[in-house]
Amino acid sequence: MKIVIKKDYVELSKFAALEVKNIVEDNPNCTLGLATGSTPLGLYKELIKLYNLGEINFSSVTTFNLDEYRGLNEEDEQSYKYFMNDNLFNHINIDKNNTFIPNGIAEDVERECENYEKLIGEKGGIDLQVLGIGMNGHIGFNEPNQELYLNTHLETLTEETLNSNSIFFTNKEKMPTEALTMGIGSIMKAKKIILLISGKNKAEVVKKLVSGKITTDFPASILQVHNDCTVILDEEAAALLNK
Ligand code: PGA
Repeated sequence: MKIVIKKDYVELSKFAALEVKNIVEDNPNCTLGLATGSTPLGLYKELIKLYNLGEINFSSVTTFNLDEYRGLNEEDEQSYKYFMNDNLFNHINIDKNNTFIPNGIAEDVERECENYEKLIGEKGGIDLQVLGIGMNGHIGFNEPNQELYLNTHLETLTEETLNSNSIFFTNKEKMPTEALTMGIGSIMKAKKIILLISGKNKAEVVKKLVSGKITTDFPASILQVHNDCTVILDEEAAALLNK
């Protein structure tokens, strides 16, 4: 696992955007794995800037998002489909037919998960996966547990995740308690991974991430064995690392 430390969130986001730009430049037909949450918002802003400057072309790019809340459809402002359209896809020249997110309202969830996993394979796998990390070490919505799932599946969200994400919901009663998420195997199969971590409240999380141990209690710890994973930190998130 390679670690890159940038001065602040803006620099972190710019660095991540250049990583994406390089992948798209090398292979205009590439497949990107994308994430939601507050951390990648800066990256998406930078990508829109690069697009407006004519420095990146998404016309042949395919994307797969990590996860979607169970029960929310794409018109719901809290759905990740809406988030991606609003924060990225509506502002760049991507063909929306090539942007995939698990269907949160699928009647047959098991089938939806199987199809999603299959589709990633059919598109040749993910060239670059963008990740954030939860306070409990989750990646996607793979929550700490005794066992982790390899493939896309339905996950019950932990109390900690529900609390962290409730800031996005004005009506907390309506917050879904389950999500469809790519599995640990789906993520680990990505050819390259960038994990973005920002802010002093994530400093402890970073310390655990590089602990040298792998445990299902901290799902992101598996990234330590990926052969092309770069963790991009700002100085605040890196505060507890030994220099
Ligand atoms: P955040 O979420 O970027 O909003 O901190 C990350 C995550 O929960 O994966």
